[in-house]
Amino acid sequence: MANDDSYIEFKNYFDIHAHILPEVDDGATDLTETVNMLKLAASENITTIIATPHYVCGRNNPEPDYLEKLRLRVQKEAYDINKDMRILLGNEIFYSESVIEDLKRGKALTLAGSRYVLVEFSISESYNTIYNAVTKLINNGYWPVLAHAERYICLHKRTDLIKELIKAGCYIQVNASGIVGNILNSKAVYLRKLISSGLVHFLGSDCHDCNIRPPIMETAVRYMIKKCDINLSEILYENPFKILENNYI
Ligand SMILES: [Fe+2]
Repeated sequence: MANDDSYIEFKNYFDIHAHILPEVDDGATDLTETVNMLKLAASENITTIIATPHYVCGRNNPEPDYLEKLRLRVQKEAYDINKDMRILLGNEIFYSESVIEDLKRGKALTLAGSRYVLVEFSISESYNTIYNAVTKLINNGYWPVLAHAERYICLHKRTDLIKELIKAGCYIQVNASGIVGNILNSKAVYLRKLISSGLVHFLGSDCHDCNIRPPIMETAVRYMIKKCDINLSEILYENPFKILENNYI
C-alpha cells in the first residue's frame, strides 16, 4: 500500500556510500569518470555525497590528507554541475581487528568526521564475527553502519539477526539499486519489506562507475513510495542528517 509520502515531492537525496573519488580504489578510474558520475548523481537528485573509498588494514591505503585534496577537487567539479551539491569524506572499511587502532590514529576515516563508521565484511562472513565486530566498534565509541547489509549470506531473510544487530547499536545501510525490481525480484521485495519494517537506516548507491554500478537513488525512492508503508523522511533525510550532526539515531 502506498503511504502519505506519495504526495510529497522528495528531492535533495543523501548518498552515504559512493566510490566516486578518482583513482583511489575500484571506483572512478579518473576525474572524467568522476565528473560523469557526478552528473548522473545530480540527475538522480542526489545533492549530498559521502565519498567512501575502500580501506583495508595493512594495504597501501591513500593517506587522509590526499583524500581530502581529492575531495576538494571533486567538490569544485560538483559545484559547477549543481551549486547545492556537496561532497564529504569517509571510508568504507573492511573490518579486521586493527581497524579500531587505524580509526583512532585517523588513518581510517569515519563518515564525514562523525562517530559513524561504514563497515563491510566478506559476504560469507559468519554472523558471530559480524556481531562481535560491531560490538567492538561500539565499545570503542564508534557507531557502525553495516554496508550493503543485503549482501551477507548469514543475514539473508534473517530479520531476527538484523534486529539483534540493531539492538546492539548497529545501523543498517542497503544499496538503492537493490530496492528496484518488480514482484518477481525476491531480493527487491525482501529489501522493501525490511525498509517497511523500519530495519534500514540508510540508503547508499555504492556507485563505482556510470554503467554497471551507477549512482542511482530516484528510481529506488519511486519504488519505496509505491511499495513501502513507512514514513520515508527518516531514511531519506533525518537519519543522514544525524551523521552530519554527529548525533545518534
Ligand atoms: Fe562500497
